Amino acid sequence: MVFSFCRAAARKAFAHQASSNVAPAAIGISHTVSTCLKEYSHQQRRLFHEKKFEEEDDHTLEKLFVRNRKWVEKTNKEDPTFFKKLAAGQSPDYLYIGCSDSRVSISDLIGIEMGELFVHRNIANLVVSSDVNLLAVMTYAIEHLKVKHILLTGHNDCGGVRAAMKHKDIGPVLDSWVQNIRDVYRLHQEELDAIADDEQRHRRLVELNVAEQCLNLNKTSVVQKRRNETHADPNFSKSYPRVHGLVFDPATGILCKVPTDYKKIASEISDMYELFDEHDFMVHPDYVIGSHDKDETK
Ligand code: CO
Repeated sequence: MVFSFCRAAARKAFAHQASSNVAPAAIGISHTVSTCLKEYSHQQRRLFHEKKFEEEDDHTLEKLFVRNRKWVEKTNKEDPTFFKKLAAGQSPDYLYIGCSDSRVSISDLIGIEMGELFVHRNIANLVVSSDVNLLAVMTYAIEHLKVKHILLTGHNDCGGVRAAMKHKDIGPVLDSWVQNIRDVYRLHQEELDAIADDEQRHRRLVELNVAEQCLNLNKTSVVQKRRNETHADPNFSKSYPRVHGLVFDPATGILCKVPTDYKKIASEISDMYELFDEHDFMVHPDYVIGSHDKDETK
């Protein structure tokens, strides 16, 4: 009742104030009503802005929905069975781990179909052993979807890599993340410091970061376990998943393999990171040693 009166008084006073631009005290409004007036006024402004933002959101989504419907129409015209196949489930051969950069869309880069690629993205395509999100994606992709290839993909003009090359505070969370790339720089400091051109040094760090993240993939138990399993299985001619280090250049659209031979480095440091004994895995009774061209690096 009191609130109702207060609201009515506030609305009246608000209307009066709006038309006359006279302060509440000047028209004899009590302190309580004046407070209600301020609250009411604030609430009205908030509702007005919320409504405006909602309208803008709707407009943004409408544009996306229009694009989506056009794409559905075009896709159905090109292949009337496309969505039927998509609804049947996924069986991708590839796990893509790449940067979150909006310019890097791996499906477009390699013209791959929907359903062929399982995806994880983060800033600067890092493989951090404590990243539960990444480990969950890897475990599902490797143990359940049984992907055969991991495409660890970096890109030139990477904001994360650039940030790691600057001595600047970018906040505790981003600093902590980017520190992983600074560790890569430290490992290759002599080579990187010898490159005079800033852009060339950035590009080399992009490559070295990709190579280091490939090594990090090989250190994980989920990758090692599956590679040992497939190595012991005669149904596989190689050990899977294969790990590939790639770099994309947004300036040209070209995707390339990293020149660093991280597989050689992986074999050199494998003693340190090997988690399984080869004998832990049952060799299939039909397997004849030498009958298959197994991966030499395992
Ligand atoms: Co990036």
